Amino acid sequence: MEQGQAGRRVRSERPSSRVGVPWWRDAVIYQVYIRSFADGNGDGVGDIAGIRSRLPYLAGLPVDAIWINPWYPSPMCDAGYDVSDFRAIDPVFGTLAEAERLIDEAHGHGLRVLLDIVPNHVSDRHAWFQAALAAGPGSAERARFHFRPGRGPDGGEPPNDWLSRFGGPAWTRVCESDGRAGEWYLHLFTPQQPDLNWDNPEVAQEFEDIMRFWFDRGVDGFRIDVAHGLAKAPGLPDAPGAPWPPDGPGNPPHPAWDQDGVHAIYQAWRRVADAYDPPRVFTAEAWVDGYERLTRYIRPDELNTAFNFDFLLAPWTAEALRRSITDGVAAHASVGAPPTWVLSNHDVAREVSRYARPQGTRELRHLDDLGGLPTDFALGLRRARAAALLLLALPGNAYIYQGEELGLPEVEDLPDEVIQDPVWEQSGHRERGRDGCRVPLPWSGGAPPFGFSPDGASAAPWLPQPAHWAGLSVAAQEGDPGSMLGLYRDALRLRREHPALGDGAIAWVSAAEGVLAFRREPGFACVVNLSEEAQDLPLSGEVLMSSAPLEGERIASDSAVWLAV
Ligand code: GLC
Repeated sequence: MEQGQAGRRVRSERPSSRVGVPWWRDAVIYQVYIRSFADGNGDGVGDIAGIRSRLPYLAGLPVDAIWINPWYPSPMCDAGYDVSDFRAIDPVFGTLAEAERLIDEAHGHGLRVLLDIVPNHVSDRHAWFQAALAAGPGSAERARFHFRPGRGPDGGEPPNDWLSRFGGPAWTRVCESDGRAGEWYLHLFTPQQPDLNWDNPEVAQEFEDIMRFWFDRGVDGFRIDVAHGLAKAPGLPDAPGAPWPPDGPGNPPHPAWDQDGVHAIYQAWRRVADAYDPPRVFTAEAWVDGYERLTRYIRPDELNTAFNFDFLLAPWTAEALRRSITDGVAAHASVGAPPTWVLSNHDVAREVSRYARPQGTRELRHLDDLGGLPTDFALGLRRARAAALLLLALPGNAYIYQGEELGLPEVEDLPDEVIQDPVWEQSGHRERGRDGCRVPLPWSGGAPPFGFSPDGASAAPWLPQPAHWAGLSVAAQEGDPGSMLGLYRDALRLRREHPALGDGAIAWVSAAEGVLAFRREPGFACVVNLSEEAQDLPLSGEVLMSSAPLEGERIASDSAVWLAV
């Protein structure tokens, strides 16, 4: 038992070898994309009631924690990442009282709860932005945002050349109270998401208060949205010739992204989280250029963990993955933080569909990157199974995005008229965006809504589920040891029990070309064959589990094996 919130205890079932290791160093955290997880009230949108009803499922996988995507009041211009009030719950998801019950019940199931905090921007409906619009140029209300006069003779051009992460200029001009076109405000995402000015101490104070509001309710930590965006270079200088996307790996530094000034913010957040017993934790969403920049966010006096997107984006080749793992482990060790492994999330194409394409020819991040390439879904699923065993054998903590444990593919054929991702409109219908990985989960039954909504629901799921998902539902896979769900369950149980897994070191074992093999102590090895042929196992031992049957003594192509050695 470990202390959760005052008076409430979080049960933990960890091997004795891990007692004393902070839970977040080796946790498996399940990402609950709330609007697509489970719909309790039948309106076609997932909600808190749905999550509460599925806590036994999550605890039984088993996972250690859940991360819930934004559930705050929002006009939903960016699926809840446009927050209008950080201290309440959007009615579509439930009430604050229900949220408090969920946190309590999750703890009762031994699950920690992480929320999503969105500090880079607010909704244009947020009281602060409405006040800024009303108060006019030069006001204290506008100083919470980045308002600037435009360039050009009539101020008709944006104040600088920055582009929105979703396409188009990062500035929008407002109409002043006299009816005339006036100042411009900065938004690195949609125009409905004005960026906050983190040089303003009021902004910092407000977010510390928001964090305490949730920590006081027992929340165990936050995933920080766009953690690399908060600090902007002084003076907001132009970035001539900057490639797009501006925060892509390998790109030159951009004055809007990954500025060194961001670290003082997180040092202050660390002090807030450390004032709690047990200390609350943070995970950074930071799309930065390489591990050296990434691990700056998780130095001992800053955040706890940061998603390893280098690993997520690595193609399914032994060379790319070995480099990503080796460099990632070394960089994290240099700051004393555990690596955080992740294969997908609500912003990228699902890995079954990425791995179904030829690997290493171009970056496969979004649905739009997958088009026009030869596709083999059986191969994608086979590789995703192997990737799951690789993910869960690596040192540190791991995130599972809902539906990964079911082997869900990206839904690539959503009709235009159902697409809700703002990327679709903002790119002038050139990019279909991220809805293909956000389709509501199939739980049971032979037809949509596949148990996502209760019987007699008043509305269909907010995105249509493909008919063939009947075979991928939780109920369809339950009891089938050969299913993806069976694989995840076995691997998660073994990971929880095995003293070698979780936090710690890895040692590579030399193996044939196209094969990754590493040991974890005591007595564990993981072998992954990314070549097109079966291969000899590079070390002998008892097979604990495998993602595909062995071929005699040999490991099959595109499969992984866990060994007791
Ligand atoms: C993060 C979120 C993404 C959102 C964006 C703007 O990248 O994961 O879904 O659109 O931030 O808040």
